[in-house]
Amino acid sequence: MRVIVKDNYQEMSQEAARVVARQVLLKPDSVLGLATGKTPIGLYQGLVRMYELGVLDFSRVVTFNLDEYYRLPPEHPNSYHRYMQERLFEHVNIPEGNIHIPNGGAEDAEAEYKHYDEEIKRYGRIDLQVLGIGPNGHIGFNEPGTPWEITVGLVQLSETTRNREAPRFGGIENVPGRALTIGIKTIMHARKVLLLASGSEKADILSEALLNAPTPNIPASVLQLHPCLSVIADRAAGEKLVKKPTLKSFRTQEAIQEFELI
Ligand code: GLP
Repeated sequence: MRVIVKDNYQEMSQEAARVVARQVLLKPDSVLGLATGKTPIGLYQGLVRMYELGVLDFSRVVTFNLDEYYRLPPEHPNSYHRYMQERLFEHVNIPEGNIHIPNGGAEDAEAEYKHYDEEIKRYGRIDLQVLGIGPNGHIGFNEPGTPWEITVGLVQLSETTRNREAPRFGGIENVPGRALTIGIKTIMHARKVLLLASGSEKADILSEALLNAPTPNIPASVLQLHPCLSVIADRAAGEKLVKKPTLKSFRTQEAIQEFELI
């Protein structure tokens, strides 16, 4: 596991954009697993900027988004479809046919997640999976307790998650109770995983997930078992990692602390 703690959100986002850019430059037909939420907004801005500068070409890139609220049609203002269109897809040249997001408006959820799973398998596996982390340790919408063997599924959202989303939906009663999500098994099958964390709200859960024994109660903790995990945090989220005595080595510069966890 490689952990990089950057000074602030902007630095974290730039570093994350560099990791994704490197992936696309080295493998132009990369299959990218994409996340939503507040955390990767700066990453997407960085990618758009690199595209506009002519540094990056997305014409052969394939994307699979992690999740979508169930019973939220793609055109809904709070859907992750809209989020991705506005943050990334409208601004870069990923062909429409290469973009995959679970259809939250599908009548038959089981048919939808099975189809999504097949689509991912058609490409073999995800080359680089970008992840955020929920305050309760969820990744994608895999909430605490979700079995690790799910590839793609329909899951129940926790009250914690629904409460957190309530302001965006204008009240908890409007927050969907379920979501379609790529499961832990597919995430763990990705060639590389990039976990991003920002803000003091994530400090405790990030250190619990990375420094304690893996447990389904903290879904992100499974990532410790991934052979190619990079974590990029800002200082507020990474604070408790930096202080832990279990660090094998670390070096401190003005704006970066980088180290390897045992
Ligand atoms: C959301 C998403 C996750 C995201 C997480 C953290 O509910 N389903 O994919 O990583 O919660 O969100 P944020 O980045 O806004 O803190």
